[in-house]
Amino acid sequence: MNVLGIETSCDETGVALYNTERGLLAHALYSQIAVHREYGGVVPELASRDHVRKTLPLVREVVEAAGLSHGDVDAVAYTAGPGLIGALMVGATTARSLALGWGVPALGVHHMEGHLLAPMLEESRPSFPFVALLVSGGHTQLVRVDGIGQYKLLGESLDDAAGEAFDKAAKMLGLPYPGGPHIARIAQEGNPDRFTFPRPMIKHPGLDFSFSGLKTHTLTTVRSLEKQSPLTEQDKADVARAFEEAVVSTLVIKCRRALEQESLNRLVMAGGVSANRNLREQLATTLGKKGAEVFYPAPQFCTDNGAMIAYAGAQRLAAGQVDGDDVQVRPRWPM
Ligand code: KG4
Ligand code: ZN
Repeated sequence: MNVLGIETSCDETGVALYNTERGLLAHALYSQIAVHREYGGVVPELASRDHVRKTLPLVREVVEAAGLSHGDVDAVAYTAGPGLIGALMVGATTARSLALGWGVPALGVHHMEGHLLAPMLEESRPSFPFVALLVSGGHTQLVRVDGIGQYKLLGESLDDAAGEAFDKAAKMLGLPYPGGPHIARIAQEGNPDRFTFPRPMIKHPGLDFSFSGLKTHTLTTVRSLEKQSPLTEQDKADVARAFEEAVVSTLVIKCRRALEQESLNRLVMAGGVSANRNLREQLATTLGKKGAEVFYPAPQFCTDNGAMIAYAGAQRLAAGQVDGDDVQVRPRWPM
């Protein structure tokens, strides 16, 4: 079976073809970052328009790159939510129209299910059950995964998502959008001993997160430095370092706690923030000491992409979960 996957929930147009026996056949990604950069965040209307322009050309490119023709596609999966409503509508109507024209089923996929199954595209893949840490621009969640479609939410952010906190901290430091990779880059030059930022919620029992206090602490630090003189590159690096350390150690502590609580020893990490090298290293070291294993998607499949949607769609197809013909998207959709 060849499943086409289409992702348009935010600011990347991702398309991929997944074959249930041979694995990923081809994938293509178009990022709108340049379109949104001057606004310091994603402008929903511009995102929708750009998805309209890019989706069909990417579908053609991917089908050709896989050495297939349209007649070889057995199902079309698309992100049905959560995300920006206009952007989701573009992917959903395109996917449903293609499926109708080709006479094949269409499948609406949950974006976060796509992220949490993305490590299954790798050769070294986890077996069920495992705990997944989903850390993206819109979500910070710990989920127990017992199988495809068997998800139990263990904890989540009560306010900002981890990626959102990275993006906001970056903005305070005058770094471009999306800020996560820029914070990570300059933090390498930062002095780890200059500032210590609070580790939110770690004394709080349970597995929920909160990053708004850390955001405020970062802003207060930046403002008090600015009162003395304009920020130097070293100031920015030191703040970035303290901020990243605080987020990373909070995430690591909660992951360890989640594995202990669930008596599991496999952790899967997915979503844009899972590309963070410091987070990967600290998780591997801390959990490694406890005899636990950590699994990640390849860096290109940590952030939004079509491959994870094609894979999740293939699993839904195998489970016989095909949708009706009406186009339904869910901008807010608990998993
Ligand atoms: O999963 P994703 O591509 O899109 C959403 O569904 O949100 O995640 C994007 C988020 C952004 O907030 C971005 O700043 C963050 O992931 N991000 C990072 C890194 N790379 C991307 N955050 C920290 N360190 C990174 N290396
Ligand atoms: Zn995402």
